[in-house]
Amino acid sequence: MSAASASHGLTGVASTLLTPLYGRAHARRLLPSTDFSDPLATAVLERTGYRPSEVLTDRSNALGSLHRAIVLDRLTTAFTTEHPDATVVSVGIGLCTRNARLADRVPDSVRWVGIDTPDVMTLRRRLLPDRGIDLHAASVTDPDWTAALPAEPGPTLVIAEGLLMSLAPQDVAGFLDRTHRALGPGTELLADLFHPWVVRSGRHPIVKATGARFHSGYRGCAGLAAAAPGWQPLGEHGVMERISPAHRATAYAFRLVGLGHPRYTVARLRAVARPTAAR
Ligand SMILES: C[S@@+](CC[C@H](N)C(=O)[O-])C[C@H]1O[C@@H](n2cnc3c(N)ncnc32)[C@H](O)[C@@H]1O
Repeated sequence: MSAASASHGLTGVASTLLTPLYGRAHARRLLPSTDFSDPLATAVLERTGYRPSEVLTDRSNALGSLHRAIVLDRLTTAFTTEHPDATVVSVGIGLCTRNARLADRVPDSVRWVGIDTPDVMTLRRRLLPDRGIDLHAASVTDPDWTAALPAEPGPTLVIAEGLLMSLAPQDVAGFLDRTHRALGPGTELLADLFHPWVVRSGRHPIVKATGARFHSGYRGCAGLAAAAPGWQPLGEHGVMERISPAHRATAYAFRLVGLGHPRYTVARLRAVARPTAAR
């Protein structure tokens, strides 16, 4: 079977959306103690016609995706509780159903926007009965991707879940720059990132499973914030550490040799006023 012959038709980086979808779809089995539930993900995963060889179904990767979603759900709930007039923009949304999952925890006044490449948006429209979210087919590397945003979005939370590592460093910098220009100070960004050593090694199993490549890594939240002017690091939220004591020990050991920087983390950044020269 060729790489594109599964019924979802996705290849390369687009097919990386299957692994986090799998984690959320199997939440009840993987984490029986969690109140995380995403029945829509379970239904949609089946509709993709995915093949096991292109999805990381091992506990470590499936649980890692699931814990990432749990961390981001918590941070999204906190932001929208503080800002009931917020817009939540998911860049590289894939088949993520956060808006439906958090419907009873997020005020109805919150606006949801999803961006992904045209091939993924076509698949999403075919497989998912989306309601209450504005979807746009665009690449975040397009200079005008922010044209998809509401004219006056108010306080905005941008979520890049599983995205930045697959962009070239100059594209991450451009994405941060355009996001800042379009949305301005006060905008928050949540993004998961790998340390540059992981990216350089090229040995993450998703690379083997999908043919996607990693291009960008950062030394934690401060490293990402330094990629473009006007971004302030607010903090890091561990993901793999949540899986088991062994994962915590591994993450700790990496930090020891990595001069305190995490192997993998969810970074939280806020846009602040830029120095005059950078505007
Ligand atoms: C690992 S998947 C994550 C999907 C989703 N955020 C989730 O967690 O389920 C990465 C997603 O980023 C999207 N993507 C990659 N490059 C992109 C780009 N330049 N612009 C928009 N989306 C992109 C892919 O198509 C894919 O849906």
